[in-house]
Amino acid sequence: MHGSNALQIGLFGANCSSGRAVTLVPERWSGNWPDNKKLALLADAAGIDFLLPIGRWKGYGGDSDYQGTTLETITWATGLLAATRRITVFGTVHAPIFNPVVAAKEMVTADHIGEGRFGLNIVVGWNEGEFDMFGVEQRAHEQRYEYAQEWIDVIKMIWSDREDFDFDGNYLHMKGIKGKPKPYGGTRPVIMNAGASPTGQAFAVKNCDAFFLQASRISLEESAARVRRAKEAARAHGRAIGCYTVGVVTCRPTRKAAEDYFHHCIVEHADWSAVDGILALKNISRQTVPMAEYLAQRSGYAQGMGGLPIVGDPDHVASQFADLAKAGLTGIAISLVNYLDELPYFVAEVCGRLEWMGLREKPRSS
Ligand SMILES: Cc1cc2nc3c(=O)[nH]c(=O)nc-3n(C[C@H](O)[C@H](O)[C@H](O)COP(=O)(O)O)c2cc1C
Repeated sequence: MHGSNALQIGLFGANCSSGRAVTLVPERWSGNWPDNKKLALLADAAGIDFLLPIGRWKGYGGDSDYQGTTLETITWATGLLAATRRITVFGTVHAPIFNPVVAAKEMVTADHIGEGRFGLNIVVGWNEGEFDMFGVEQRAHEQRYEYAQEWIDVIKMIWSDREDFDFDGNYLHMKGIKGKPKPYGGTRPVIMNAGASPTGQAFAVKNCDAFFLQASRISLEESAARVRRAKEAARAHGRAIGCYTVGVVTCRPTRKAAEDYFHHCIVEHADWSAVDGILALKNISRQTVPMAEYLAQRSGYAQGMGGLPIVGDPDHVASQFADLAKAGLTGIAISLVNYLDELPYFVAEVCGRLEWMGLREKPRSS
């Protein structure tokens, strides 16, 4: 990313209705354009480092039709890049659905509009229902990443100085490829991936600048070991990567107020019918996994489909962030129930504390 913060902070999922909180509370995130634009302007002024959208094509149903309304991510990023000045904005692109020549052109256009601030989150997809909608067959897991390798190779070639080249892979057969302009400023957009399987992780460290991994909920040492392993794997390819993670933040003036709000949104008013739909897509049910695991997964998915829950007062939240930095993480993408309502307090109290700790810089005033 472009900022110089030792611990970078991004906002994850704001292009989708309900964001990442599977809740029925009326203040849940609208995901509409006016709110997204206001949020981006606020985040940009507050020195937030990046905005990371979710590439989703179909909602998960339930009483809230969780993530049923989503803004397409490259066009969303393009609009936000035109409106902002410093923040990096990602597009989350499903490789099997986007023709790489079209995608390379769309992304380079966004990158020029943002003067080099566009980032690519490359995803291979996992939800068959979404692929059926496109008439595209979901490949077996390994082949998804084989295809993605050819896709990203073509994209990087188009973005390089190469002109008028052919690509003849196992999946892609393309002739006379050209693409101008090249990315803004003679660099290429930052590329991230969040593969969790061994194949997905291998793809990420070989191809990406930023790798999203799951931080351990139990121990700092385990998170540090995960970061170390990913960096070593990248080094074996002669590459350096930054490691990031995902957090679901509820920050209030007191621990009790934070825990109460978390319980209100994510337990009492969780959209359990949507959660059960998500679990069914992942083949997690009372029949397929032991009851204790089923209940743990159910509660985990209600609070943002995974990600580290960070619930507490500003001291606690800031200390959790500092621990992530100690584990070697470069940054964290967070979600909030209502991003616009909650961001100002988070910035003032948590980012402020991180500035005192030397993990973040004061946002520039102009
Ligand atoms: C931060 C983050 C963002 C992700 N964004 C998306 C997304 O927008 N769309 C999607 O289909 N998958 C998304 N994923 C899923 C990953 O790309 C990946 O498929 C998943 O972690 C499973 O790993 P695997 O593909 O190696 O099995 C995301 C995961 C994380 C942690």
